[in-house]
Amino acid sequence: MPEIKQTPTASEPTTNGATPHSNGAESATLKERQTDAIPPPRGRYAHIVGWGYHVPEKVITNQDLEQIVDTNDEWIRSRTGIAERHVAADPKETSATLAIVAARKALEVADVPANKIDLIICATTTPEYLFPATACLIQDALGADNAGAFDLSAACSGFVYGLAMARGQILAGDAEYVLVIGTETLSRIVDWTDRDTCILFGDGAGAVLVAASEVPGGILSVDLGSDGSGGNTLIVPAGGSAMSTSLETVSSGMHYVKMDGKAVFRFATRVMAASTRKVLERAGYTTDDIDLVVPHQANIRIIQNSVLNQLKIPAEKVFVNLEKYGNTSTASIPIALCEAIEAGKLKPGYKVVFVGFGAGLTWAACALDWRTPVERQAAGWWKSTRRQATYSAAAARSMWKRAVRWVYDVLPDPETPGRDENPKETPETPIKETGGERIKE
Ligand code: ACO
Repeated sequence: MPEIKQTPTASEPTTNGATPHSNGAESATLKERQTDAIPPPRGRYAHIVGWGYHVPEKVITNQDLEQIVDTNDEWIRSRTGIAERHVAADPKETSATLAIVAARKALEVADVPANKIDLIICATTTPEYLFPATACLIQDALGADNAGAFDLSAACSGFVYGLAMARGQILAGDAEYVLVIGTETLSRIVDWTDRDTCILFGDGAGAVLVAASEVPGGILSVDLGSDGSGGNTLIVPAGGSAMSTSLETVSSGMHYVKMDGKAVFRFATRVMAASTRKVLERAGYTTDDIDLVVPHQANIRIIQNSVLNQLKIPAEKVFVNLEKYGNTSTASIPIALCEAIEAGKLKPGYKVVFVGFGAGLTWAACALDWRTPVERQAAGWWKSTRRQATYSAAAARSMWKRAVRWVYDVLPDPETPGRDENPKETPETPIKETGGERIKE
């Protein structure tokens, strides 16, 4: 794992809850404002120490969309800021396979083996199945044999919700390493004849490894919110228990995303600013302290209206890449984080905010004091080979376990004699392999 550095501006909470970088006059106000802040237990912090992303190869441009629906490049760019998006055109590419590649990259950056992960949180709106959780498929493919795994459903806010859960596990002392992933194949639930929605979304995955550390900083504060009264403004109506899949639901397209774009827009501009303010206060920061904001990449006008205009954070401190990817929901913030690092926009000692919103309706923000070195260390051939070998071993182990289960199914059961006289047809389970040939790196 990269050595997390302590610097003189480290934001270790002092006894009055203010941070060392605040000046005297400010700290009095901060003390009042921080009454609801829960300082982390002394000596334990949650830092992002690894990051990675992966997007499918196929790109669909606005011009391509002009051939499919009644739209045009000028409208899409001016109303959303999006120019193109990546789409999982190959049926073998799924939310799990994209996530596995992103997760492997995050583990490589952190230089942490998969068997050290305690928990895998997969935030997604496009899971592989209703169950099993996509997180479990990722756990199997990584060979993360000591990890719990679950999916988190909070739509586009899901990645920041996941970071909040990871921080909680680490501060409670229940985990040392938590892998948080946002992964989507939204192209599979978008109606490609609906110009209101199909222009917005893209596919991709981003992952971070969150680690426990004694170095002050990391994820300092979080804000999670929900307003279920707006659930119908952004919804996939069919496929759940409210409206189970039937010929009617499929023929009427109820398994596709339905959205009241204007209502979501109004909601988003309000909560993005409010949630950012909350986490800044809880961390003892002001907007002037912020070096980088990585917002959910839904629409450039939402970002301008909230982060730039309401919070008065200058554009050069706000990372935007939605032009290339569109809205990748839970994956948008981790993909943007990775690209911000690649672009040299993030350095140790920076104060960072992640903020997002999504279906639910939900919103979430967190403030970080970034301490992890960002320069990439070239991995030696030996480490890369060993890492590859552990993934191949994980795939072999998974196959072996399936084979053993199959043998138990077909062997005569000594405890129920006569059972095999009328053998039950074992239904073929249509679960796809994720660990092996489906992954394209
Ligand atoms: N191409 C051309 N014209 C279009 C298109 C299109 N793709 N879509 C709509 N129009 C037309 C409309 O029909 C309308 O025409 P009219 O005035 O003749 O009726 C006109 O353009 C204006 O439409 P509006 O809906 O008013 O456009 P608006 O400026 O609100 O932008 C948009 C629509 C981009 C959807 C915007 O409302 C938005 O971004 N909302 C937020 C959506 C969002 O972020 N959703 C994801 C949430 S995250 C998650 O959880 C998945």
